[in-house]
Amino acid sequence: MSGNADRQAAAEKAMQVASASGQAAAPPEARLAQSVTGMDTARMAQLGLLTSEFAHEISNIIATINGYATMLLQDTPAADPRRGHLEIVQSEARRARRALDTMTQLARGGKGTVRVPVDIDRLLDDVLALVSPEADACRIEVKRARGEGCRVLGCEDELKQVFHNLLVNAVHAIGAGGTISVAAELSGDGTQVLARVADTGCGIPAGELDRIFEAFHTTRGQSGGTGLGLFVSRDIVLRHGGEVLVQSTPGKGTAFTVVLPAESGGGG
Ligand SMILES: Nc1ncnc2c1ncn2[C@@H]1O[C@H](COP(=O)(O)OP(=O)(O)OP(=O)(O)O)[C@@H](O)[C@H]1O
Ligand SMILES: [Mg+2]
Repeated sequence: MSGNADRQAAAEKAMQVASASGQAAAPPEARLAQSVTGMDTARMAQLGLLTSEFAHEISNIIATINGYATMLLQDTPAADPRRGHLEIVQSEARRARRALDTMTQLARGGKGTVRVPVDIDRLLDDVLALVSPEADACRIEVKRARGEGCRVLGCEDELKQVFHNLLVNAVHAIGAGGTISVAAELSGDGTQVLARVADTGCGIPAGELDRIFEAFHTTRGQSGGTGLGLFVSRDIVLRHGGEVLVQSTPGKGTAFTVVLPAESGGGG
């Protein structure tokens, strides 16, 4: 109680000082934000790290739940009433995944993430393993072209999030029966890593192309899409000094290319 009283007294004193100096007192929410920002940066950073580690672990668990639900769905006849239950498990696992991705992104505030050398070619394998049960269930063939020396300096979890979203989008754009081509390569001069995810899905109408990176823009609202995937992905790539390019032909398919600065900038 005395701690509260002390804080209250300190807050009042601070407001008096502000009024005395002719400044308008900051509104309570601004003062709260100030106190959180200035309070204990080290502790906040630690909390962010813990959140990321926790989110990473939960993300693996969600991937397992989603993978097994997808496999069980494949083995369950259309007339089986348990199909509906499995579909709920699957869609809820996906929803949890999206919520987790958004939380991780917000918790990091886009700053202070540890950058380490990341091999984008290997990272693509990791992410493909997450989406392959769903791709298999949709009879989608994955074509893979390998790239040598595709290292960037970055945050592995964030970059995984980018390619996970691109691959999930590709699966949804195809629906059933199609091809996803995944490739990474080093640019000719060795300064950039180009990672490409192309699908033979529904494509994006020309008029919508410039809206797909907007927050909450989704054509998948009915099936639980939040419209944050590309918004968050582009933010991550921009913070890594790169860009996301898109080409699409309605009815034929879409190709996303993520361009990132290579680790050494000189291929060495
Ligand atoms: N490969 C693709 N083919 C066709 N349309 C796409 C593709 N990728 C994205 N889109 C379009 O862009 C929209 C936004 O994509 P985004 O990943 O931001 O959100 P979402 O997939 O709808 O939802 P969320 O990722 O939050 O679950 C999609 O709803 C879809 O209309
Ligand atoms: Mg998406």
